[in-house]
Amino acid sequence: MIQRKGMVLIKIFTDYYNNKVNFSTEDHPFSKEPKHVWVICRLGSDWLLTRHSSRGIEFPGGKVEVGETAEEAAIREVYEETGGKVKDLFYIGQYKVEGKTEVVIKNVYYALIGDLIEKSDYHETEGPLLLNSLPANIRSKNNYSFIMKDDVLELSLTEVMKRYLSF
Ligand code: GTP
Repeated sequence: MIQRKGMVLIKIFTDYYNNKVNFSTEDHPFSKEPKHVWVICRLGSDWLLTRHSSRGIEFPGGKVEVGETAEEAAIREVYEETGGKVKDLFYIGQYKVEGKTEVVIKNVYYALIGDLIEKSDYHETEGPLLLNSLPANIRSKNNYSFIMKDDVLELSLTEVMKRYLSF
């Protein structure tokens, strides 16, 4: 069920692995200090993604390190996984995944990328992928990551389009 309270978007659904997910565009509804971040990246008129070595194509993200803020982690992860230098970062929302053994809380950001630096190492990924448009049927594509295969992607993109892009 999708709920709109004014400008706020809230939805509860299950993910690719059948875990329960709560998504909300409220200000940090599940944790003030989330341990994970996910970043929808835009470079000019393209989306900037990364090719994760085991999971497949996804927007970059990862874990917040000790002593780091979530925003700092978002900027670092984008650079590590794509070589993209974040020029502007906007908070979009937060989601909570109730996994089999742990609960994961992730901030979603929208990032405008300035430069794309070519590197020799992209951590656990094979580096950047620029796409003018995202495929419509990502959920059925083997080369895409499971984190791109639940409602978080569509909800986040809807919010990004509404706030920052007009097509
Ligand atoms: P590493 O410690 O980096 O090896 O990672 P991990 O596989 O233990 O994963 P992590 O702690 O990031 O996440 C634990 C579990 O939470 C995963 O196996 C997923 O089931 C779930 N999870 C993590 N991130 C996401 C996400 O973005 N979306 C969804 N739907 N589930 C996620």
